[in-house]
Amino acid sequence: MSDADATALPVALVTGAAAGLGRHIAEELHAAGYRVALSDRDGEAAQRAAAELDPSGATACGLALDVLQRGHFEAALDRLRNAWAVPQVLVNNAALTLTTPVMQITPEEFSQVLDINLRGTFLGCQVLGQAMAEAGFGRIVNLASLAGQNGGTASGAHYASSKAGILTLTKIFARELASRGVTVNAVAPGPLELPSVRAAVPAERLEQLTKQIPVQRLGNPRFIARLVVLLASAEADSATGAAWDVNGGIFMR
Ligand SMILES: NC(=O)c1ccc[n+]([C@@H]2O[C@H](COP(=O)([O-])OP(=O)(O)OC[C@H]3O[C@@H](n4cnc5c(N)ncnc54)[C@H](O)[C@@H]3O)[C@@H](O)[C@H]2O)c1
Repeated sequence: MSDADATALPVALVTGAAAGLGRHIAEELHAAGYRVALSDRDGEAAQRAAAELDPSGATACGLALDVLQRGHFEAALDRLRNAWAVPQVLVNNAALTLTTPVMQITPEEFSQVLDINLRGTFLGCQVLGQAMAEAGFGRIVNLASLAGQNGGTASGAHYASSKAGILTLTKIFARELASRGVTVNAVAPGPLELPSVRAAVPAERLEQLTKQIPVQRLGNPRFIARLVVLLASAEADSATGAAWDVNGGIFMR
């Protein structure tokens, strides 16, 4: 696609998009016709992932964005506004997933996980939400987790608490931005078929855990990515402040 053809395409920004679920989400948004900024703390990895989507750079770019830094969100917004357009879609996906047993979590580790997962989502919603509200349209999707609803099984207390906080932040930003054309939703997956899950949980334990899932399988990250694309669509204008559960039947409400 030429640069001129690409200028009509809406822009999406995904955090933590160099690997894992974020990368799947970036790929599905790109396939759905978005110009996608793949951002990550590891900017080089984000650039490599973007180059695989579109080597010309017309419809995919990689950005170094550490969600701990409000200034990084502001810089990404400025850069995208100047080069492409104000993003219509933000996916707050970056996270640090740790499994330390609760009595062994240090105060420093607790704060680190809360800062990346919860405060990072807060900063993304605040900075991009403001720009979207001024533009009169936006879609924010926050990656929460089943762990934030049931306290988690393999994941740590800090991780689960951060994800519970994201569910609440989602409602607050949804209420704040609803009248200005901006929706804010959370997706709450159970364990997914991803390298991060296989790295965090020993194979034998993962097999046991999978047998306890009612559908007896790990979740499909591609489906999560397509759900994000659906929530990002213009038609999703009445879906806001909600948590979209995809957990194989582990938690029903
Ligand atoms: N994997 C699962 O089963 C699962 C289940 C429920 C929810 N989730 C959520 O989905 C999201 C993605 O999970 P994943 O398994 O792909 O994780 P992952 O650890 O594989 O990838 C996370 C990405 O975030 C990036 N990142 C970490 N700290 C960052 C920071 N400070 N700033 C910017 N980027 C940073 C990492 O570099 C990495 O590319 C997370 O929010 C996670 O909580 C995952």
